[in-house]
Amino acid sequence: MSAPIRIGVFDSGVGGLSVLRHLITELPHVQYIYVGDTARVPYGNKSVATIAHYAAQSATFLRSKGVDMIVVACNTVSAAALDIVEAIAEVPVVGMIQPAARAALERSPSKRIGVIGTRATIESDAYALALYAHGGTENVTVVQHACPLLVALAEEGWLAHPATLAIIEEYLRPLLDQAVDTIILGCTHFPLLAEAIEQVAPVALIDPGYWATRHVKRLLGEQSLPQQRSPRTARVEYYVTDVPTNFAAVARQFLGFEIGQPHRLSLEEIVPISAE
Ligand code: DGL
Repeated sequence: MSAPIRIGVFDSGVGGLSVLRHLITELPHVQYIYVGDTARVPYGNKSVATIAHYAAQSATFLRSKGVDMIVVACNTVSAAALDIVEAIAEVPVVGMIQPAARAALERSPSKRIGVIGTRATIESDAYALALYAHGGTENVTVVQHACPLLVALAEEGWLAHPATLAIIEEYLRPLLDQAVDTIILGCTHFPLLAEAIEQVAPVALIDPGYWATRHVKRLLGEQSLPQQRSPRTARVEYYVTDVPTNFAAVARQFLGFEIGQPHRLSLEEIVPISAE
């Protein structure tokens, strides 16, 4: 029997568990190493240089673990520093941007597409550039908006709270004014708010974690493998840079079930492999 495939997944914190959830559902026989930089989250309001440095540390750690593939669950890292991760990884790297952009273009009849994410993701223009590249600048209209407050609301579990609905309404107004028919949920936290967003915006929603998982599946070419494990029994090693007081509850919210005590990891001590 060949050795099991090992995939490294990293994020700025617990949000990436929303991506891991898709991975373990679709590919429960794979072994996962999850890294959440909970000590330094959020990345979404940091500079590109800082995001790249942190991402390089996670990628270096996962490379040292000998993973076969790296999934960059964090949209902010995928948008601002995917090239650094690719230069370090020495294995295939899957980010959130390209699979989601392709899916949005396939699903949008009008090709008027909204993108929401952290400030760093929106300011990078990564989603807009991918949408224009695949769909053609003359055919596609992209309306982007940073929605930083939604990160805290999702972690707080205010998924259907009237305050959350009011904030979503305020954030989405510019997108709906521009008549988008599809919105990319360009942040690990936003799929948790999908029902609230649907109440405000009658549009198709794209969850990048789902589409990235489909891409991983294609790369592995393994649709036919027997799924002898269930998502709950998938083998995952969790590493976090801090264990916040509400870690267990937030992790449960993102993953759908309890995880045991995670390993503590100091990314600060990791000297990134230089990526030229
Ligand atoms: N994981 C981040 C993302 O998907 C959200 C949290 C943060 O700002 O670090 O963009």
